[in-house]
Amino acid sequence: MSLLRGLVLGIESSCDESSAAVLKGRLQLSNVISSQAKLHEKWGGVVPEAASRAHIEAMIPVVDEAISLAGVKLQEIEAIAVTCCPGLIGALSVGVSCASALGFVLKIPVIGVHHLEGHLLSGQCLLESGTKDFEFDDIYPQLCLIVSGGHTELILIQKPGHYEILAETRDDAAGEAFDKGARLLGLPYPGGFMIQEEARKGNPKRYQLPIGLRHDAAEFSFSGLKTATLRLVEKEGAEINIQDAAASLQRAIVRALSMKVEMALNTHSGSIKSLGIGGGVASNESLREVLSEIARKFGLPFIAPHTSFCTDNAAMIALAGSFWLANGAPSPKYGQIDIQATAPLPRS
Ligand code: KG4
Ligand code: ZN
Repeated sequence: MSLLRGLVLGIESSCDESSAAVLKGRLQLSNVISSQAKLHEKWGGVVPEAASRAHIEAMIPVVDEAISLAGVKLQEIEAIAVTCCPGLIGALSVGVSCASALGFVLKIPVIGVHHLEGHLLSGQCLLESGTKDFEFDDIYPQLCLIVSGGHTELILIQKPGHYEILAETRDDAAGEAFDKGARLLGLPYPGGFMIQEEARKGNPKRYQLPIGLRHDAAEFSFSGLKTATLRLVEKEGAEINIQDAAASLQRAIVRALSMKVEMALNTHSGSIKSLGIGGGVASNESLREVLSEIARKFGLPFIAPHTSFCTDNAAMIALAGSFWLANGAPSPKYGQIDIQATAPLPRS
């Protein structure tokens, strides 16, 4: 796997983060993220119309800041990568319009990137130079767990561009399980980080919460956990210990995820060279600890992105776009990037 050598500008606007990043190879020169979390907090979730408007306001300043923090000139950018699917149509349109206009003016290629592929390859982004590099051949095939507000998927990456979904959720995503649980416990949106912070001081064995489909290797399920948390809140009332409840909820989610990872490793261990992780929930410290221990047990390197590359960001989009441009992606004409609310992963 190779990447473009020159500077790549990444743009991301699929949900509630407006982000722009400049990458040189795998190294981030800048990765600016403007989050709309505060805006959507009052509704307890992302409101598409409000998200689109906020992206329009944020996008140009974010791109401007990414260019200036990188210490480069706009004219030095060699290519632009922009998230084009899956996501909120209005939100995606803002990033794609911005990227297309820039590409048209600068006369450089603009490539549409699948958001999930950004998360899948985010472990390759480097925060600073001097970090020990590795050959791509050393880490692929990789078993990668993608856990975010919209996704819970266990994917076998034969190599970038070759993906096989081994397991996915039949109902809520892991991030939703964190967010809905946090809401039931009266913690603010987005709840994943808040649950992690409360859980630090709590007893994870205090409350028994269920693990859905524990013997099914191909499916995750978090809807039962949400119902059980609701029952717990109703039963305990004002007596509930929020820290213990957060710790118990986090333990149930982490166990549900790690059990399937172990199952997949048992099945595919002969061919897999590393265990990877990506998505907003991948910044959860308990999940990282448990998965790193599992990887150690199987004798595999654990490729975890720096937390700044876990939640939605444009650096991972730039990296995925750079891969496709360096490895023979059809170069789309300006203005012809297909925006889709849902889409399968790309294939090479
Ligand atoms: O990848 P992401 O930024 O957006 C999507 O593509 O969905 O993921 C956002 C999700 C939210 O559900 C948020 O609660 C969760 O990631 N999250 C966490 C943590 N930080 C963010 N969940 C658990 N622990 C965290 N530290
Ligand atoms: Zn995401």
